[in-house]
Amino acid sequence: MGAMKSCSIHHHVATLVIVLLFNLCCFGKAADRQEEGLGASFIFGDSLVDAGNNNFLSTLSKANIPPNGIDFKASKGTPTGRYTNGRTIGDIIGEELGSPNYAVPFLSPNSTGKAILYGVNYASGGGGIMNATGRIFVNRLGMDVQIDYFNITRKQFDKLLGPSKARDYIMKKSIFSVTIGANDFLNNYLLPVLSIGARISQTPDAFIDDMLSHLSTQLTRLYQLDARKFVIGNVGPIGCIPYQKTINQLKEDECVELPNKLALQYNARLKDLLAQLNENLPGALFVHANVYDLVLDLITNYKQHGFITSSKACCGNGGQFAGIIPCGPTSSMCAERSKHVFWDPYHPSEAANLIIAKKLLYGDTKAISPMNLKQLRDH
Ligand SMILES: *[C@@H]1O[C@H](CO)[C@@H](O)[C@H](O)[C@H]1NC(C)=O
Ligand SMILES: *[C@@H]1O[C@H](CO)[C@@H](O)[C@H](O)[C@H]1NC(C)=O
Ligand SMILES: *[C@@H]1O[C@H](CO)[C@@H](O)[C@H](O)[C@H]1NC(C)=O
Repeated sequence: MGAMKSCSIHHHVATLVIVLLFNLCCFGKAADRQEEGLGASFIFGDSLVDAGNNNFLSTLSKANIPPNGIDFKASKGTPTGRYTNGRTIGDIIGEELGSPNYAVPFLSPNSTGKAILYGVNYASGGGGIMNATGRIFVNRLGMDVQIDYFNITRKQFDKLLGPSKARDYIMKKSIFSVTIGANDFLNNYLLPVLSIGARISQTPDAFIDDMLSHLSTQLTRLYQLDARKFVIGNVGPIGCIPYQKTINQLKEDECVELPNKLALQYNARLKDLLAQLNENLPGALFVHANVYDLVLDLITNYKQHGFITSSKACCGNGGQFAGIIPCGPTSSMCAERSKHVFWDPYHPSEAANLIIAKKLLYGDTKAISPMNLKQLRDH
């Protein structure tokens, strides 16, 4: 039985590969390369891009409760585990780059067979670069574990395509996106009780050093597993999220200083790390996504972007900005979801995600450098 099943999977994949090759050979002129679509999109990160992994963990960080997902068309508005009202930035980028399917969550039973050829999502709400990050949620996938899981996927690709084609597909036709780091501050370094040891023994500089040396090891592991096209997001203005503004009782147009300062400090060093990896890892291309500036622009110039507020969460409760109690069935919800920059106390709305994703796909070097995602795909 087992042998027959794997035989028929091989057969399907062989057919698919032939179709892909046929398209390449016969319509593969430069002008038609756009139609080829993305090979695979491998998504690593935290709740900003989790597409349902935490549904399969016993964790306090969950988003598979209404009204999360209320605007997600593919599920007809039922929650999927995404921490927003609609699509994440990862979903939108996959769509725009021509993928017919959203990358499947690694922990979902669906992440088998040829479904993984379009990509796999390892992101997990509460996850961070450091293993200890997100302890407050009891369970989450940190970056080390997410890469262990990719190692499993990598072997599945060898089985599906054969080692040589698998290597080519991963190296040339796949994009590795990493959206991580915010929780290392919010749910580790800045947490008053849990991190007290770390904060007494480590200056911000030392903690950020530690983060970047771990991230460097993690990205190098992905490279060893044949990843070549990377996009790495920096940490957003975490001092401006409704949660931080509410607990610090700020005014509408103010942000909390320390979290933003830590993010900027980390971001400057991240840029250096990516330049260094670009130099040291032959054939690798690390693209830097300036999420901080993109999100800060939405927050500061929200009116120009068509929003009515960038301080108040659409779904949530507590304080002036609905920023204390997370979004759930008993939360109050705003009337115009597309007019709020923030969906909940922590996460942008789909409308905000759409603006950010478009800048990353087609924007200039202020948003993403040395090239945008469209160019990275065709590179
Ligand atoms: C698995 O895929 C099926 C069909 O595409 C879908 O209906 C179902 O919701 C998926 N299950 C999970 C857990 O994602
Ligand atoms: C992080 O945790 C995972 C699993 O819990 C473990 O395999 C890994 O070695 C840990 N990494 C570090 C740097 O401690
Ligand atoms: C991937 O897994 C294999 C064992 O199956 C191990 O030998 C190898 O070191 C792992 N690679 C990385 C980069 O973690």
